[in-house]
Amino acid sequence: MRAHWGTRLGFILAAAGSAIGLGNIWKFPYITGENGGGLFVLIYLGCVAVVGLPIMIAEILIGRAAQSSPVSAYKRLSGEDSPWQALGWLGVVCAFVILSYYSVVAGWSLNYIILSLVDTTHGKTPDQIGGIFDTLYKSGSANLLWHFVFLSLTVGIVYGGVQRGIEKACRVLMPMLFVMVGALVVYCLIETPSGFAKAFGFILEPDREKLTPRGVLEALGHSFFTLSLGMGAMLTYGSYMSKEDDITRSSLWIVGLDTLISMLACFMIFPFVLGHGQVPAQGPGLVFKTLPIIFSTLPAGLLVSLVFFVLLALAALTSAISLLEVSTSYFIDEHEWERPKAVLVTGVITLVLGVPSALAGGGGMLPEWEAMFGMNFFDTFDYLASNWLLTFGGFATAIYAGWFLPDRLRREEFASGSRFGKLYPVWLWTLRVSPVAILVVLLYKVGLLKV
Ligand code: PHE
Repeated sequence: MRAHWGTRLGFILAAAGSAIGLGNIWKFPYITGENGGGLFVLIYLGCVAVVGLPIMIAEILIGRAAQSSPVSAYKRLSGEDSPWQALGWLGVVCAFVILSYYSVVAGWSLNYIILSLVDTTHGKTPDQIGGIFDTLYKSGSANLLWHFVFLSLTVGIVYGGVQRGIEKACRVLMPMLFVMVGALVVYCLIETPSGFAKAFGFILEPDREKLTPRGVLEALGHSFFTLSLGMGAMLTYGSYMSKEDDITRSSLWIVGLDTLISMLACFMIFPFVLGHGQVPAQGPGLVFKTLPIIFSTLPAGLLVSLVFFVLLALAALTSAISLLEVSTSYFIDEHEWERPKAVLVTGVITLVLGVPSALAGGGGMLPEWEAMFGMNFFDTFDYLASNWLLTFGGFATAIYAGWFLPDRLRREEFASGSRFGKLYPVWLWTLRVSPVAILVVLLYKVGLLKV
């Protein structure tokens, strides 16, 4: 019999754990910074509500209706040789690709946990502190080691299964994560009240001039990544849900918590950055370079640094387990493997696939690749996954659920266990319109649409 979540809360915490990850704490603050805050945040919230939420409901619904992981789900719902199973395949490929480099970034946060414990910033200049990251980035052996450690933790949890591994871990880790975010925001408010006021202004004041059309597109793309949509993670988690659970209500919780943490992440990072005379538009180095510089000047800075990087690692871990569960459940459902074998094999494949990303900073690795694509392996994977695969996956999922899923099944599944059954037409309508918005993004990206 298929495994199921032990409790409703367990599902919400696991799915929120998947959604809340590096995307919220590492990426959202820096893209907000780059796009001038204010209006970008508003547009992002609009994308989450109008495109993200309906697709989240659709993915969970497909999973619960089929009670199986992506490839088998499309086969069950649309027939053994339905072309839609390609969408399931895309999900499995995406899971391998994303986890392989996600684990490298997550590994950096593990490294910074150790650095916070041994205080490597004492007596160093800001340049030297920033240089710590450059050294780490270039060190192949350190990256490989942390990639291995992080992936082993992920494998360990998924090995335990749905209830005893994933659900149990999320029930402990997610409350810890919420407490740490709360503590850091309060610390920020007390330590740099002036920075907090500036952050408020930056995040909430619509500043029309700084936002470009590109920023609008970035907001939509990011809403897929942060909500773990478009690659079957939510579908897989939905397949462990029972018919008595309320899909719409759970989705509202997941989307709400994800958005809350993204906003709070800004309120725990920007006050430091703005209050200490730094600029927020610094790209990916914001978290690993700028913050350690600021932490080194704060009272109890090492403790703050420790809490921050533990938080980052936990957020990454609960997302990584959902990625590994997608590929693992593929082997369990399609090839009838036992879970231990499936987890270990997918773990090893991901480990190997991540090696070029782990060595990406070292230079010299696959120079032909860099020459051909103009970027290293790591960046290629990130670019490919978050810009193309997820956006396309979300687009196709919306079309499938909106137009190809038999209406009776869709309606019944939407209403089953839900007190929002009456909202069915509103959901369906939004779901059917959302591909238009996504298509605009895709056309822009392939250069067929100029804005
Ligand atoms: N949502 C995760 C984050 O914000 C990333 C992720 C994408 C996880 C897709 C699972 C699937 O970091």
